[in-house]
Amino acid sequence: MPKTIVMYCLMRAFTLLGVYVLFGCMGEGAVQADTPVGKANQVSIEHYPVSPIGNAPGASPQTKALALSLGAGINFGNMLDAPSEGAWGLKVEDEFIALVGNKGFSRHVRLPVRWSNHASTDAAAVIDPEFFKRVDSVVDRLLAGGSTVVLNMHHYRQLDGDPLDATDRSVDPSVVRVRFLAMWDQIAQRYAGKDDRLIFELYNEPHGIQESTWNDLLSRAVRVVRKSNPQRALVVGPTLWNSASALEKLVLPPDPNLILTVHHYEPFNFTHQGADWVQPTKPLGVDCCDANQAALMTSLLDTAVKQAARLGYPIFVGEFGAYSLAPEAARIRYLRLMREAMADRGMPWYYWELAAGFGVYDPAKHEFRTNIKQALFQP
Ligand code: BGC
Repeated sequence: MPKTIVMYCLMRAFTLLGVYVLFGCMGEGAVQADTPVGKANQVSIEHYPVSPIGNAPGASPQTKALALSLGAGINFGNMLDAPSEGAWGLKVEDEFIALVGNKGFSRHVRLPVRWSNHASTDAAAVIDPEFFKRVDSVVDRLLAGGSTVVLNMHHYRQLDGDPLDATDRSVDPSVVRVRFLAMWDQIAQRYAGKDDRLIFELYNEPHGIQESTWNDLLSRAVRVVRKSNPQRALVVGPTLWNSASALEKLVLPPDPNLILTVHHYEPFNFTHQGADWVQPTKPLGVDCCDANQAALMTSLLDTAVKQAARLGYPIFVGEFGAYSLAPEAARIRYLRLMREAMADRGMPWYYWELAAGFGVYDPAKHEFRTNIKQALFQP
C-alpha cells in the first residue's frame, strides 16, 4: 500500500473515525480506504471476489479427523443469538460455561451469534468492539475448558428476507449481502490465531434466498475467511433452513477444510408443537414416534449421509430437538431415536439447546433435566 495512503488512513483513523476507517485500510476484502462515511452503502458485493473456480476436492485428512472427533454437542441457544444478549431471558453465564468442556457433560459447543445486530448498518458492518470483547471472552473460556466451539452467524433477518425483531438494526437492502461478507472478514481476522478447536460456521439456516444466490455468497465468504484462516475448519450448510433435502443444490468451492451441516426438526408438527415463534402455532398433543414418523426422521439422515458422501465432506447435525410443550414421554422417545439413528450413521450432533425452551438444563433450578440429559448424553 503506498505510504501516502497509509498516512492518510492513519490520520483519518486517529482524527475522525477510529476503527471505522482503519478497517477501510485493510486492503482486499475490506471497504476501500477512501470510502466516505455515508457512501459506504455503495460498496458492491463484487468487492469480495468468489472463490477460485474448480471442483471441491473433498475433505483433507485433518478436517476428516476433526469431524470424527466431534460428538454429542450442545447449542448455547437463545443467548448471543437473541437481538441482544439477555433479551430472550438468557445470558452466557459462568455457570453454563462450567457445565461443558473436559469436566462437563459435553465437550462440543455450538455458539450462535447475532452479529448483524451489533454491527454498523452500512456496507462496512463494523462490529461493535464491546460486543466483540464479549464474544472473545465466551470463546476463550469455552476453548480453555477443553471444548470444541462452532462459532456461527445467526439470525441476520434481512439476509433471510424475514421481518426484523423489535430491536434489530435495519439496513438498506443494497448492503445486506456485502455486510455478511464484511462481518466475516472481521470475525475471521479476529479469531485467526485461535486454537484449531475453534470452527467457523458461515450461516445458520439460510432460507428465503435462491440456491444460486446462496452458493455465490458462500463462495465469496469462504474466500474472505481464507485470507486470514487458510486452513481452519469451516462449516457450510444448504438452504431451506439447512434441510438435508437441499444438499443436492449446494455448490461447494474448491476448499479441503469444509464440514457440512444439516438441521433436523422433523416431524415438525411434533417437535414444534406450541412454539409461539411458528405461525400458525402447531396444536399440542402430537405424539412420537410411529413408523411413518420414524421413517421420516431416518430418511432425512440417510439423505444427508448420501449427499455428504457425494460431495466428499464430513457432515453433522447442527440442530435437532423437541420443544418443552411436546408430551414428555414422546419427547424422550424422539430424542433416543434421533440419538441412535445419528450414531448408527456416524453423524456428530448438537442438541438444540442448553437452557431455554428445549433446554437440557433448568437455569432457574440450576440443575439438569435428568430425563433429557439421560436420553441424550448418558450411556
Ligand atoms: C433458531 C431458534 C429456534 C430453533 C428451533 C433455531 O435455528 O435459531 O431460534 O428456537 O431453531 O426452532
